[in-house]
Amino acid sequence: MICHSYLAIAGIKPNYMLKNLWYAVEFSDAVTTHPTLLKIFDRELVLYRTSDGHIQAMANACVHRGAALANGWIDRDCIVCPYHGWHYQPDGSCVKIPSITTGNIPKSARMTTDPVQEKYGWIWLFLGDGSPGEIPSLPNFPQVEASNLRSIQGEFDWNANYERVLENGLDFAHAPFVHAGAFGNPDLPQIADLEIENFAEGASATVHLAATPPQGLWKLLVRGERAPIKTRTGFCLPNITFLEVYLPFGQLTIWTAHVPIDLHTTVSKWINFRTFFTGKWADKDAYNRTIKIFEQDKPIVESQRPQLIPDDLKTELYVPADALQLQYRKLRQYLLS
Ligand code: FES
Ligand code: CO
Repeated sequence: MICHSYLAIAGIKPNYMLKNLWYAVEFSDAVTTHPTLLKIFDRELVLYRTSDGHIQAMANACVHRGAALANGWIDRDCIVCPYHGWHYQPDGSCVKIPSITTGNIPKSARMTTDPVQEKYGWIWLFLGDGSPGEIPSLPNFPQVEASNLRSIQGEFDWNANYERVLENGLDFAHAPFVHAGAFGNPDLPQIADLEIENFAEGASATVHLAATPPQGLWKLLVRGERAPIKTRTGFCLPNITFLEVYLPFGQLTIWTAHVPIDLHTTVSKWINFRTFFTGKWADKDAYNRTIKIFEQDKPIVESQRPQLIPDDLKTELYVPADALQLQYRKLRQYLLS
């Protein structure tokens, strides 16, 4: 379990991690019966799947001499350290030390493990020091399970703190500036009638955004000027944002887990669902459109200073279009206090 003393060793001010929550950290299909390294909040873990399909999460540095378990292998559901071959079973206890000829395996030969779950195509890791009874459940996204949707997934790297990246996902007013070449309309930058909705894990806002005429493949589906597009965006604590775009020809939804590798590095793991062009042939176009948006955001988000969002709500300024970011900061503040 992660705790304040661990965070102090890692050089992280405890304040910067929202504790006792489930973080979406990896795509389900990225974890197999081979060990996978996961870096989160400067900490290294190893993930692997046992023969019954369950995911295990363990510290990566072997308790014997610190070799990386992620470079080892799996033998009958045990992870085997590549240095001296110690075997750890899924609960973290060591069950085999090959060099021992007589005597018992020391009780302290045990790796720390973290609670892990799998849902909605992601693996979720519980980071905190709460007892299991206090562990809140995962967010509920029933729409993700609708079977008529075509989905694709991908990753995007940022040299930025995950909270700056997450807040960029909640920001409507940048579209006419940063995304003028994609969907933002630079002639109509006003954001009117932002409707905020609060729910158990976070909040969302809905607006009607002025858009530019569709480009590329989407031209096949609609012609001419576009009416304002209903757009809903929101967050689920601690590290998910979502975007729902109600296009004249269908709905596009993007769920993104912003994984905090360290305080200055984030990997966004996104899943994009669409109700139109549901054939595989349109996947590349959908992928490219998503990456193009992230690439437009990247230089701006990486330029933000300070790199970490301020703790004090009075440090930066807020206008009505920032209402959703403000809601995020208030909830975060509440959880940190
Ligand atoms: Fe892992 Fe020795 S360092 S078994
Ligand atoms: Co953007």
